[in-house]
Amino acid sequence: MNDLKEEIKSRLSVEDVVGQYIELKRAGRNLKGRSPWGVDKTPSFMVSPEKGIWHDFSANKGGDIFTFIMEVEGINFKEALEKLATRAGVDISKYQGGDPAVTKKKARAREALNLASKYYQACLVRNQSVCEYVFYKRNLNRKTVAEFKIGYAPASGKALIEVLQKRGYNLNELEVAGLLNRFKTDLFRDRMMVPFIDTSGNVIGFTARILKQGEPKYLNTPETLLFNKSRFVFGLYQAKETIRREGYVVIVEGNMDVISSHQAGVKSAVATSGTAMTEQHLKILSNLTSDIRLAYDGDAAGIKATERAIMLAGDLGIDLTVISDYHGAKDPDELIQKDPKLWQDAVSHNVPAVDWLLQKYEENLDLSSAPGKRKYSDVALKLLDYVKDEVERASYEAKVAKILNIDVATLREKGERLNKKLEQTPKRFLKKPKTQAKNDKIEKLENSLLALKVYGGITKTKIPLDVPDDDTKLAELELVFNSEHELLDSEDYEREAKELLKLYQQEIAKQKIIELNTKLSNLEEDSEEYLNTLNEINELQKTQK
Ligand code: GTP
Ligand code: MN
Repeated sequence: MNDLKEEIKSRLSVEDVVGQYIELKRAGRNLKGRSPWGVDKTPSFMVSPEKGIWHDFSANKGGDIFTFIMEVEGINFKEALEKLATRAGVDISKYQGGDPAVTKKKARAREALNLASKYYQACLVRNQSVCEYVFYKRNLNRKTVAEFKIGYAPASGKALIEVLQKRGYNLNELEVAGLLNRFKTDLFRDRMMVPFIDTSGNVIGFTARILKQGEPKYLNTPETLLFNKSRFVFGLYQAKETIRREGYVVIVEGNMDVISSHQAGVKSAVATSGTAMTEQHLKILSNLTSDIRLAYDGDAAGIKATERAIMLAGDLGIDLTVISDYHGAKDPDELIQKDPKLWQDAVSHNVPAVDWLLQKYEENLDLSSAPGKRKYSDVALKLLDYVKDEVERASYEAKVAKILNIDVATLREKGERLNKKLEQTPKRFLKKPKTQAKNDKIEKLENSLLALKVYGGITKTKIPLDVPDDDTKLAELELVFNSEHELLDSEDYEREAKELLKLYQQEIAKQKIIELNTKLSNLEEDSEEYLNTLNEINELQKTQK
């Protein structure tokens, strides 16, 4: 793998790779340009041709050509490697690295899933009643059905297995692909099949909708070697060009909303499939644009989801807005069924997420009573904690104070009191962004690792942590071991330890990066120490993937 990286690096210069995306101007030994993540006011993107690295001071990230492509395209390392290998004219198959057994397993699963998708697509046109559902009930046209590779899984229970076995796949391989149920027969039966397509265009799983009433409405591929739901963004493969071109993304709740939206001409719609939004989802999207529009329901769940998004957005420099005017429709799909034009208009009538939430709080509380005002100020202040810009924050404080009919000073006083209380109480109801969350993570990993070291009989993996000698701590570790690692077979302990150790080292590196960045901001640009520190940061960043 390293040979392959080096070979590609020797053929592509960092300025050429980066230069495809942003305009670079020479500045001393380096080149400068505007951040592709659009958060700088003056050029803050730096490239060092000498060292083959880049660093973006406004978005606070950096690395080599591979990390650049990963970040700017929102793809993973492997995909970036493939992309740049093609550009450099390097034959990747000569270098296949990684654990060959796992690579092989993945490749087989990918092939099986792509075949399954083709088979399901063929079954759709052969089945009258499913066609009715897809083309008439859901109003999808042929182009959309083809673009989203929509299909049908027959009811028999072994239909897919038989097809794939004939093609040489065994049950074990189909299981790895996530196509079997626990009885080792077809997982998906008599359902409309919508594949999960990754950003390279490969099918990595399915979401399957029941055709009539019944439970569950949707059945999804479980987590597999290929499908990770906390990273997967449904529709991104079809949407990413438009997102980049038009400069915004619309996040809807349902996969069918994505499909309808594309058909209605709003091709920048995506969804997080069958799961709440995660930091990874948001990161992947924020690499494409900083204009993120949420199209969630206005109900309690939609409010929660929006609050969650605001918390996650933290320091990512995102303009989070909400699209809320559905003209009484339940979701975008229903609105589009009424009139696609309504949805096309809706996506440009977005309001800042904070304003939208404040409005919801106002609607849901009785602001004519004193306790109602107290509750409103509780939730509003909690929300405003995430508004980092002083001016924006002051403007919201004024707005909230006005709604409460009190002066801003009183509101701020309460805000300060709440924050003080937070510092004192160990059990926070708000996560203190960044450092706190990270320290928690490190501590948790340390405990898991120590638990394995003490109670799992790890010998091969060197865990660089001292075994504590106090009994309470040991008892705590035993508890951790029993709850976290008990379900593993003992031969899995080593592997688990190895994985945890890797995560742990990544977290430690992340902390170090934060420290070094602080140091960097106090150094003179172009000085030797500056460049060395920069290099050190970029080295550390390599461990972050
Ligand atoms: P339609 O009824 O087909 O229009 O679906 P919808 O997209 O309007 O679904 P809904 O608003 O009920 O749910 C939104 C999203 O939640 C869906 O796209 C699914 O990802 C997920 N979801 C809904 N029902 C289920 C279910 O029964 N199981 C699972 N795993 N996910 C579901
Ligand atoms: Mn719907």
